Amino acid sequence: MEPKASVKNLIPYVPGKPIEELERELGIQGVAKMASNENPLGPSPLAKKALREHVSKVNLYPDGGCFELKRKLSEKLGVPEDTLIIGNGSNEVIEIVARTFLEPGDEAIYGRHAFIVYPIVTQALGCSHVVSEMPDLTHNLEDMLSLVTEKTKIIYIANPNNPTGTIVRRDEFEWFLKRVPENVIILVDEAYFEYVDDPEYPDTLRYHSARESLVTVRTFSKIYGLAGLRVGYGVASAEAVSYMDRVREPFNVNSAAQAAACAALDDESHVARSRELNREGKEFFREKLAELEVGYIESHANFFLVDLGKDPVPVYEALLRDGVITRPVGGYGLKTHLRVSFGLAQENERFIESLRRILRR
Ligand SMILES: Cc1ncc(COP(=O)(O)O)c(C=O)c1O
Repeated sequence: MEPKASVKNLIPYVPGKPIEELERELGIQGVAKMASNENPLGPSPLAKKALREHVSKVNLYPDGGCFELKRKLSEKLGVPEDTLIIGNGSNEVIEIVARTFLEPGDEAIYGRHAFIVYPIVTQALGCSHVVSEMPDLTHNLEDMLSLVTEKTKIIYIANPNNPTGTIVRRDEFEWFLKRVPENVIILVDEAYFEYVDDPEYPDTLRYHSARESLVTVRTFSKIYGLAGLRVGYGVASAEAVSYMDRVREPFNVNSAAQAAACAALDDESHVARSRELNREGKEFFREKLAELEVGYIESHANFFLVDLGKDPVPVYEALLRDGVITRPVGGYGLKTHLRVSFGLAQENERFIESLRRILRR
């Protein structure tokens, strides 16, 4: 069967290697997965309890409108319920936005080293992709603005960006917001929002009342530790959400995910613990990588982009043999880097010790 030309040229998404796969290959137990920016503490105990209690109800279809989750999010975020769209991961929200608003021939702008799902969803729809260079590995909003044409329909900004961990700050964002024409959608992907502690980091929810064509996307996969359940959300104008609701599958978010996400929102202390563990992990990485004289990009999220200054794949493979899964990011145009998610303290130590041995060889 011949696929659409736009699909034939797509570069496939390469996920982190699953723990079970490496354990099978090596015949070992206790692999450390530091490849997919997950929460090493796991889900909140409240989310686990909600899941256990939910098990006997999975014979029923989920609430297609995600009523309770929207109610709780609306209260927490201070946005009206009808401005919320819930997805099977924030990935699906990104895809629903594209399927609702993009036509073949429209232009989508994103950064050279930005999250790879943007080219995947836009190119699959036959859109032209316009790439903004990121020489210092952060989004360059001035450059993005200069690329806007009459055909531009959407601009993607990952803030913080994956895999670089860099952010755009409030001043630049406000400058950008004033200049991008209203008919262009600005989608800000804030998957790592809860980890950021920079005082200049913009909370884009504050700008929705001033700009109709703004979409904020967040997730329960990262700090909330629910990546396996797949639940994320978007905030947009009520009108935009009403169109997106026509496009999405009627039961796109499963009921277990809804129950766990609701419970996770009640557990502020788990979020605080996760943030603190992440801060400690980052501090440890800074210190140890400096000792090893290995470069890295300062990150506002839960991972570091480590610059080995050479092909990282042999190091990645040697780490695998030591039972540590990281992620080479050649697919992002970063040919000398490995992305490493912060783990539990013992996992961070294990990574550093393994890296030390490998680099000494
Ligand atoms: C920047 C960014 N956006 C979105 C996602 C998608 O997350 P999910 O679909 O699990 O919500 C990720 C996952 O790694 C990410 O890094």
